[in-house]
Amino acid sequence: MSADAPSLSPNAYRDTWSGQVLGDRVGDRVRLSGWVHRRRDHGGLIFIDLRDRTGIVQLVFNPDESGGSHELGHRLRSEYVISVTGKVVNREPETVNPDLPTGEFEVHVSEAGVLAESDTPPFGIEDYQGEAGEETRLKHRYLDLRREPMREAIELRHRLTTAMRSFLDGEGFLEIETPILTRSTPEGARDFLVPSRLQRGSFYALPQSPQLFKQLLMVSGFERYFQIARCFRDEDLRADRQPDFTQLDIEMSFVDGEDVIALNERLIGHLLAGMGIEIDTPFPRMAYDEAVGRFGSDKPDTRYGYEITDLTECLRGTEFKAFGGVIESGGAVRGINFGQRDLSRAQLDGLIDDAKELGAKGLVWAFREGDGWRAPIAKFLSADELAALNAAMEAEEGDLMLVAADAPAKVASILGGLRTRLAERWDLIPEGVNSLTWIVDWPLFEWVEEEERWNALHHPFTAPAGDLDPENPGDTRAQAYDLVWNGVELGGGSIRINRPEVQSAVFQVLGISAEESAERFGFLLEALHYGAPPHGGIAYGVDRFAALLAGVDSIRDVIAFPKTASGGDPLTGAPAPVDEIQLREAGINLRKPPKPGTS
Ligand code: AMO
Repeated sequence: MSADAPSLSPNAYRDTWSGQVLGDRVGDRVRLSGWVHRRRDHGGLIFIDLRDRTGIVQLVFNPDESGGSHELGHRLRSEYVISVTGKVVNREPETVNPDLPTGEFEVHVSEAGVLAESDTPPFGIEDYQGEAGEETRLKHRYLDLRREPMREAIELRHRLTTAMRSFLDGEGFLEIETPILTRSTPEGARDFLVPSRLQRGSFYALPQSPQLFKQLLMVSGFERYFQIARCFRDEDLRADRQPDFTQLDIEMSFVDGEDVIALNERLIGHLLAGMGIEIDTPFPRMAYDEAVGRFGSDKPDTRYGYEITDLTECLRGTEFKAFGGVIESGGAVRGINFGQRDLSRAQLDGLIDDAKELGAKGLVWAFREGDGWRAPIAKFLSADELAALNAAMEAEEGDLMLVAADAPAKVASILGGLRTRLAERWDLIPEGVNSLTWIVDWPLFEWVEEEERWNALHHPFTAPAGDLDPENPGDTRAQAYDLVWNGVELGGGSIRINRPEVQSAVFQVLGISAEESAERFGFLLEALHYGAPPHGGIAYGVDRFAALLAGVDSIRDVIAFPKTASGGDPLTGAPAPVDEIQLREAGINLRKPPKPGTS
């Protein structure tokens, strides 16, 4: 997947890239520079693998040909930076290295110089298998980035963002930068705050996304905007989340949801084609309720089955308290048929621990046996109930069924979580399949039980589909769409509210008072009073996009300088305490750190 070699203007250091010492150069004198990748000393002959960005070529230091340079060959160590001049020759047939593009050739060195020495690296650059711990890799990230898989991932990312820019430029989009030091843009996470020295006691917030600015750009009449934008969210980190990450952010005017989806299908088709992946358009669409019902997730992985079946009606009125009680209190019983699985009793009980980790109070496992179940709880269910459960889950003899009972949203997320976990553990995901699905028909609001308030499922600027009924906010749907790729939320967007009275009504449902909305979002409400066109857009996670294309599990592997799971950067030591003078200038008095275990 390596990019073509960059063009080269010959200079004092090189006239040829290492990766381009190929057949057409045999007999030429070449000048090369790079790093000592590997060194082998065969008595008289010294072999050096020289590495630069484009690849590796073998150098030979021969006491008869290399003159004084042969002595230098003895001194070379891994990762020294050197410059050499020599003649390109064909290798002896028995020494050809079929693993290297340059493997049929070598350079017989006549002159060589050391440009910089290197300490012994803390991990091997050439041997990616000998995985160093992540902390060590990140502490010496500049060395880690010398490794081929990392270099390829960074190159791939560059090609991806270049293709994004050129496609959108071709469609008349303007790339416009928006501020990093700004006010809070709510996207559901905590803000990172930056104290102001000039206005003591006031803080900037780093943008969670450019959402409000891109809307203001539509009010300004730019019509088509995009940005490869850095975003900042102070939230718990996972393999697919970083505190600072990159979005491809897009906004368009005078469009409806269909227009945005159509443009984006062309964009994604173009980007994937550039990476050698053919994908059919239009992408399938699935309503939010269906996604949650069938897959227990608003980002369903539709590459494999093992869908969730609702069993509530099969068990209404059951004597078995664990299910009956949940149903009576408005809950749901749901299950997944995982087919034939040969599992020990300990492994089956282990599944209960998995479910508990996902928030379940318990989990029932059962195998179909005749018309009934082989399961610890089989004796608590009637023959009719067991038959109805087998029929609902289309269970065949010996199939494993996993069943959970809880509040509907909770049981969905438990079984959805279990489904993804077990698909990985039991290797249920087909190789080489790409599944892209739009999730549509979202609720505009969700009820947060613990805080007894409504929350915007996307962000508060999303337009309702039809009229907003302030009496029944839960029934209102959103003009929103998320793009899910193989179970990963790649992007999300919506049509926005362009009328101030609708925006104020949404703030009201969210419990944001008129004073508070004027204080926090007054600039937006005011802008909406000056002729805001209908507009909408989307944002993609560039890191997630690159990780999916590179086939890596963590977005850290496609970010040059990522943070660890605890938000730290072992390379620079960030975040770090600051000195008293800086604190004083910013007008900050630190409180004592909380005692461990408190917050
Ligand atoms: P949303 O919050 O869905 O939408 O973000 C868009 C996409 O950004 C990626 N993403 C992240 N990637 C890495 N680390 C994170 N912490 C992280 N958080 C989000 C995801 C996600 O789908 N303003 C809206 C977009 C819009 O409405 O146009 C927004 O930010 O891939």
